[in-house]
Amino acid sequence: FSYSVLASATKGFSRKLGAGGFGSVYEGFLGDGRHVAVKKLEGTGTQGARQFIAEVATIGSINHMNVVRLCGFCLEDSQRMLVYEFMPNGSLDRWLFGGGGSSGGSGGGGGGGGAEGIGDGNRSPELRTLSWDRRIEIALGTARGLAYLHEECSEPIIHLDVKPQNILLDDRFVAKVADFGMSKQLDDHDVSQVITCVRGTPGYLAPEWLLHSIATKKCDVYSFGMVLLEIIGGRKNLEVSRMNIDLAWYFPAWVVNEVRLGNLMGVVDPKVRSSASEKVATRLVHIALWCIQENAGSRPAMDEVVRMI
Ligand SMILES: Nc1ncnc2c1ncn2[C@@H]1O[C@H](COP(=O)(O)OP(=O)(O)OP(=O)(O)O)[C@@H](O)[C@H]1O
Ligand SMILES: [Mg+2]
Repeated sequence: FSYSVLASATKGFSRKLGAGGFGSVYEGFLGDGRHVAVKKLEGTGTQGARQFIAEVATIGSINHMNVVRLCGFCLEDSQRMLVYEFMPNGSLDRWLFGGGGSSGGSGGGGGGGGAEGIGDGNRSPELRTLSWDRRIEIALGTARGLAYLHEECSEPIIHLDVKPQNILLDDRFVAKVADFGMSKQLDDHDVSQVITCVRGTPGYLAPEWLLHSIATKKCDVYSFGMVLLEIIGGRKNLEVSRMNIDLAWYFPAWVVNEVRLGNLMGVVDPKVRSSASEKVATRLVHIALWCIQENAGSRPAMDEVVRMI
C-alpha cells in the first residue's frame, strides 16, 4: 500500500488502538471495505528495517486459523507499516487484566498504550470477563497457532514474544497469534539460534533466552506456559511494583505452593471458579507448570501441549 492510501484508510492515523515496542497501531478501513489494523513502525534504524523485513516475509506467507492475517505492507521512504486484519475483540490482556489497554511494549521499547478497549470500552466489568470455557478455547487456539508455526511451516518459526498483548481475539473470540516482529525463521538444520539482541517482555521470557540469548521453540513454550497461568488465574504473573514489597506476588511461585498444599482450585480466577471443573483446571495448571520449567529440555513441544489441552 502507498502511504497516502493508508493515511486515508486510517483517517490520518486518528484512531489509535494501542502502542507497543515498535510503534503504534491504528484502526482503518480500506477502499474495498476491509476493516484493518495498521501498525506504524517507529525508529528507522537498521534494526527496524531488519525486523520489518522479517515480519513481512514470515507472516506474509502464513495462513492459519489461529495466526493473524497480514493484508499487506507499506514501505515508502522512511515509512514502514504493516496492515493486519482487524480483530474486533482486541488483545487478550484487556480481557484478563481489565481495560487498561496494552501494558507497555517490549524490552524497554514503547510506553504503555493507554488505549481504551476496542469497541468494548463501555461494557461493564462482568461482560468483559471471559468465561471458563472461552479461556480453554483461547488457550487451545493459541497453542494450535504456535504448534503450526513450530511444526507445520516449511521452516520452523519461533515467535519469541508470546504474551497476552500479542494474542488477538476475533468476533467469535477465536485466538490469533500476532506479531512476528522478532520471530526467527530457523534453517532446516538449526535447532537453536544465538541472537545478539534480546528483546521481549519481562515475565514471559524463558531464562535461557534472557540470560544466554539462546532462542529455540522451547522459549515460546515457556512464554505460552506463563500466558496459560495468566489465563487460568486472571491476574498478571509478575507485578513489579508489588514484587518490590512482597516476593510472594510472583504468581507462578505461589501457584506451585498452592498445588503442593492441595489447593489447586485456589489458583483459578475467582470470577470463573464456580464454573471450572477441577479435573480440567488440574490438567491446565499442570500443563502450564510443565511448560515453564527452567530446563528447556524438560518442557513439552507445542503440538504435545495441543493434544494435552
Ligand atoms: N490486528 C489488530 N486488531 C485489533 N487490535 C490490534 C491489532 N493489532 C494490534 N492491536 C492492538 O494494539 C496494541 C498494540 O500492539 P503492538 O503490537 O504495537 O504492541 P504490543 O503487542 O503491546 O507489544 P509488541 O510490540 O511486543 O507486540 C495491541 O496490544 C492490541 O491491543
Ligand atoms: Mg503486539
